[in-house]
Amino acid sequence: MTLKTEDLLKVIHSAGVQAAADTGNEPEPELTQPISWPITSTVGPGLEGAIACESKVGYVNGAKGWLVYRGYDIFELCANATYEEVCYLLLHGELPTEAQLYAFKKKLASYRYVNGTLRVLMGFPVEKMNPMAALRLGTNLLRQEFSFIDIDIPGDDMGFDEIIAMDDDSFAMETPPLGEKQATYEFHQQSRASHPRWGDQLHDAKGYEAAYHLIAGIPTLAAAISRVRQGHMPIEPDPHLSLSANFLYMLTGYQPSELEERMMDVCLILHADHGMNASTFAAMVVASTLSDVYFSVGSGIAALNGPLHGGANEQVLKMLEEIRSFGDVQEWLDERLMNKEKVMGFGHRVYKAYDPRARVLGPLAELLTENHEDGKSLLSIAKRLESEMIDRFGESKKIFPNVDFYSGIVYNCLGIPADMFTSVFAVARVSGWTARVLEYLKNNRIFRPRAIYTGDFGKTYTPIEQRQRRDTIQ
Ligand code: ACO
Repeated sequence: MTLKTEDLLKVIHSAGVQAAADTGNEPEPELTQPISWPITSTVGPGLEGAIACESKVGYVNGAKGWLVYRGYDIFELCANATYEEVCYLLLHGELPTEAQLYAFKKKLASYRYVNGTLRVLMGFPVEKMNPMAALRLGTNLLRQEFSFIDIDIPGDDMGFDEIIAMDDDSFAMETPPLGEKQATYEFHQQSRASHPRWGDQLHDAKGYEAAYHLIAGIPTLAAAISRVRQGHMPIEPDPHLSLSANFLYMLTGYQPSELEERMMDVCLILHADHGMNASTFAAMVVASTLSDVYFSVGSGIAALNGPLHGGANEQVLKMLEEIRSFGDVQEWLDERLMNKEKVMGFGHRVYKAYDPRARVLGPLAELLTENHEDGKSLLSIAKRLESEMIDRFGESKKIFPNVDFYSGIVYNCLGIPADMFTSVFAVARVSGWTARVLEYLKNNRIFRPRAIYTGDFGKTYTPIEQRQRRDTIQ
């Protein structure tokens, strides 16, 4: 069967209708009204239930499974918006006009060129690093390229390029000859885009411009890291493509079809923002010290990498492959639970209902795997696992699939290597991190919770030779 973008729209539409029928879309009054500080709230370990700030960026109704960005239901945005529109919406609070979107996209397209950063990044053993570690490193280097903030500038014209004493235009990359579908090896052609000279002016690493730079530059870094890991040259960005199409193109070397581009758009939109999740909180904590947006996003990447957060999507694919070779879903699950291990892609700190993002990604995976034999077999295992998990824990523990459960199957079908899944998540989440960080900074207060001290008091120092013998290092 040949898939069309209309098939995708149908899937999103029916997921939205089902979600609306199941959730009723009623906001929780206690979590959607302005408050007057200080407030009293019941807090669990890991700050569960704590209210840290007010925000207009997005809303997650965990009891119902409802996700809203700036007043728009996620299904509405998936069906109609592009990822660039959603980035603009998250950052500025309104959907862009045609002129605003044109200018925004143009700016993002120019910020895709991060050659100076790539040159320095490729001096590290990127092919041997965890892709998220490399991405985090690249983010710090982007900061330097954009603002050369740490440099005590001896002269006005001293920029990043000069500091590394190289001509970034000699950086070898694959390029797409115009009109061609596949990248071919060539040296970077300066004429392909007007790429800004960072040395021309000092940029504010704390503002919106930095956010645009990160939203556009991080996909280039992630794709380059992926290519190098596979033993290929990085691919030069194509300024004529949308962010999603260009990202897929730089990852795979092939210009995606309209449908693949749309699917990528939907994936990036679904992952763009999600309340005060661990990585967003990490980014905000860093920003609250009046550090800058680059450091904040770097911290977001570090926090997202964990298997309890964004790292789960890669683990899900591994887990499904493990179940396939094990043979039996029920037996595998019994064993896993007996060993007190979590099932990746299930459960959520906030959602105690079906994750709305999984409502789209599940059917999307179904659509994509129709022409993908390996994906089809993994999906059938995933479906059996989902039904087993919901039978066992849906009612009792409110455990359902989360965003990471089906995203791996979708990315797999789009030709994205499994070790890059978490980086794809990061590429999308940069918009949410930056939107929330910039919003918080308008009314900043440094984050500083407290711990309850349960240790001893009044001990006296024992000289080392008198201490009781202990052989293990604690
Ligand atoms: N598999 C099996 N049991 C689970 C799972 C799971 N995936 N998730 C929760 N539970 C059980 C716990 O064992 C616990 O049971 P108990 O009350 O009998 O001890 C109960 O449900 C509550 O679980 P907690 O871990 O306390 O829930 P918490 O809110 O702290 O954790 C989390 C949420 C971390 C997402 C958890 O569900 C998990 O580890 N899931 C697997 C990893 C995963 O998919 N992460 C991605 C989350 S989405 C995202 O971050 C983008």
